[in-house]
Amino acid sequence: MSESVALESTDKAARYAELLPQLASLVEGEPDLVANLANLTAALRVCVPSASWIGFYIARQGELVLGPFQGNVACVRIKFGKGVCGTAAAEQRTVIVPDVELFPGHIACDTGSRSEIVVPIVRAGAVVAVLDLDSYDLAAFDDIDAAGLAPIAALAAQFAW
Ligand code: SME
Repeated sequence: MSESVALESTDKAARYAELLPQLASLVEGEPDLVANLANLTAALRVCVPSASWIGFYIARQGELVLGPFQGNVACVRIKFGKGVCGTAAAEQRTVIVPDVELFPGHIACDTGSRSEIVVPIVRAGAVVAVLDLDSYDLAAFDDIDAAGLAPIAALAAQFAW
């Protein structure tokens, strides 16, 4: 595996494109779920400097439980259907929130967070986890992030959940 992540582009879409093969290399041949999720969050932190928090919530018996992350301590359990994470999980769709104050039911783990994107990780039709990125900036995430994160979620879906 490669032990570092190097991105040369400044363009956001190009950075995600550069990151993806490095992520694949990072997790290749490693079966441990926690190790792989932890490394994905660290690699994503290099790729997405506008993110204040990057992490996984893992689906366990109808709720999401905090998994590996980079950032401040965070809420541990989120019910499906609650908050941005629970909405993405319940509806199996990526949710982009340009202003968290305008998202009814947003769960504020960090009062500094201003915008967020949550991508579901779907395996055999079921949500096994969500990938959550927060930012202290308004509207930090858009369709380019959704498109860049989708293949990362697909890569993670192949892990041994
Ligand atoms: N804001 C999220 C909760 C998780 S934290 O952002 C890490 C939500 O509304 O689901």
